Amino acid sequence: MRIVLPNEEGIAVAAGSILDGELVVVPTETVYGLAADGLCPAAVLKVFEAKGRPAENPLILHVAEPSAAKELAQVWTEGCEALAKRFWPGPLTLVVPKSDAVPMEATGGLNTVAIRIPAHPAALALLRACGRPLAMPSANRFMQVSPTRIGHISPEIAERVAVGIDGGPCRIGLESTVLDMSSGEPKILRPGGVSRAEIEAALRRKLNDRPYAGPRRSPGMYARHYAPRARLCLVETLLPGQVGLTFGEAAEGQLHMPRDPSAYAANLYDSLHHLDQLGVDCIFVEAPPDQPEWETVLDRLWKASEPPD
Ligand code: TXA
Ligand code: MG
Repeated sequence: MRIVLPNEEGIAVAAGSILDGELVVVPTETVYGLAADGLCPAAVLKVFEAKGRPAENPLILHVAEPSAAKELAQVWTEGCEALAKRFWPGPLTLVVPKSDAVPMEATGGLNTVAIRIPAHPAALALLRACGRPLAMPSANRFMQVSPTRIGHISPEIAERVAVGIDGGPCRIGLESTVLDMSSGEPKILRPGGVSRAEIEAALRRKLNDRPYAGPRRSPGMYARHYAPRARLCLVETLLPGQVGLTFGEAAEGQLHMPRDPSAYAANLYDSLHHLDQLGVDCIFVEAPPDQPEWETVLDRLWKASEPPD
């Protein structure tokens, strides 16, 4: 992986690689993505291969403009329009019926497609420079913690990537909210950077879905996910000598975490990547309060602490 900066030259090099059918690591405001030309089946297959991800686990197509999003969708409802106006560019992914433009390889064989306009200037610059939708999952191996800095990219990914754009640390630090808009009943498939309350306000209605309704609500939603190599154990309070994340004062091998959910989210993956380097068997994490503003953080901690299925 050749590392470039998100300047004119770096973006041009990265866009060239995308148009050559190669993989590029791209910063977004949520996490770093592993990008390929979303309309080229051979390039999309390289993404699955590099991640070690099952082929039926669909990818998000990223675009720079709402008009490009609509070309990928067969149906674009008023609800989609309202959400796109309110949250794009930003950490919201909409699942809608797919148009014929979208290759089945990108959607894992589904007739729906996930679409998002990312808010990071480097991602937008790349999208505009290559003029194609980018299929872009998080740039980690399957089931592992998403990267929030270029330095988190694992060697197994890096050796399959042509160019990595170094855009510094990701502002949000957790993945986008995935919202299913393909039926009359909107459903959050994955909590993320846009909260349930914000979505309800934009749609002017309550969502009827319940978080954690079942272990596999969407293809590719495995109970264990977003996990460090070490086992993650949720606890009330860290004991002295336990390696992990605390709200209190951090002893050696411990990292202090902020009590603000957004600041916590921005730090979480970086902290897990850091502690995983210590090679411990278990990372202990003081559980945040079970309150709506912690929904996304709790979702990721819960998934990372599941035993492998
Ligand atoms: O913040 C993000 O969303 C990052 C950045 C790079 O944009 N991307 C990301 O992609 O997290 P990935 O592939 O790691 O997660 C995509 C999620 C998966 O849980 C997948 O199952 C779901 O979106 N998804 C994608 N297409 C879908 C579809 N057609 N129907 C239901 N779920 C879908
Ligand atoms: Mg991922």
